[in-house]
Amino acid sequence: MKSTEEYLQELKKWLADTADSPLEEMADFFTKRLYDYEEHMSIWENSYQIFAESLPANCRKILDLGCGTGLELDRIWRRDPGIEVTGVDLCQNMLHKLQEKHGDKNLVTICQDYFQYDFGHEAWDAVVSFESLHHFLPEKKQKLYQKVYNSLKDGGVFLLGDYIACCDEEEALLRGVYLEKRQEQGIAAERYVHFDIPLTLDHETELMKNAGFAIEKVLEEPDGATIIVAKR
Ligand SMILES: C[S@@+](CC[C@H](N)C(=O)[O-])C[C@H]1O[C@@H](n2cnc3c(N)ncnc32)[C@H](O)[C@@H]1O
Repeated sequence: MKSTEEYLQELKKWLADTADSPLEEMADFFTKRLYDYEEHMSIWENSYQIFAESLPANCRKILDLGCGTGLELDRIWRRDPGIEVTGVDLCQNMLHKLQEKHGDKNLVTICQDYFQYDFGHEAWDAVVSFESLHHFLPEKKQKLYQKVYNSLKDGGVFLLGDYIACCDEEEALLRGVYLEKRQEQGIAAERYVHFDIPLTLDHETELMKNAGFAIEKVLEEPDGATIIVAKR
């Protein structure tokens, strides 16, 4: 396993190598890569499995934020094909693929920005999100986590599987590059671009606790996503 120092060195090298690459609009980024998206994400196989297993068995109705082609849903429905899912994603092409795979399931897809979409009130047994929220700044996520909390039934669960920064240095480094690139390229504040700005585990769970959640479990996968189970 790589040390933090080695990891940061590789990250800095990658940032230097890609310094001139323009940021891509979020939906365009995923549309362009759709042809090999699932193959590319197969390195997370183990994390998807653990993620699905971390969903409480009594969940009947779930909301998936940034569901994409539904790699987490493949595993969730394998466990329980009766679960009712609403999947929100701003990339229509990802949602088409999800519908192609799971048109036979109890599935509603919403092509919308999850920061804008109305999640309702005490509506879900669980809100889940895998590898989507690390593209946003903490101030924006804080408001979203409050919305997630309010939309869950009492005792409901927010299940997050995401890229977590290994340390404050990684968090600050990526956020700095992100803000600099946005400014250099004159990208308006309301436009979403694909660039990873993960928070450390402390900062991520702090946002959840601020919203009212109790952190039930954290599963740290060295080569995969960190999985956080937070309860309302
Ligand atoms: C890396 S993919 C993950 C997809 C799926 N959860 C998976 O693990 O295969 C991130 C997804 O989040 C979606 N996304 C990013 N920002 C979003 C937003 N603000 N609202 C809705 N979807 C968003 C992207 O379009 C993309 O499909």
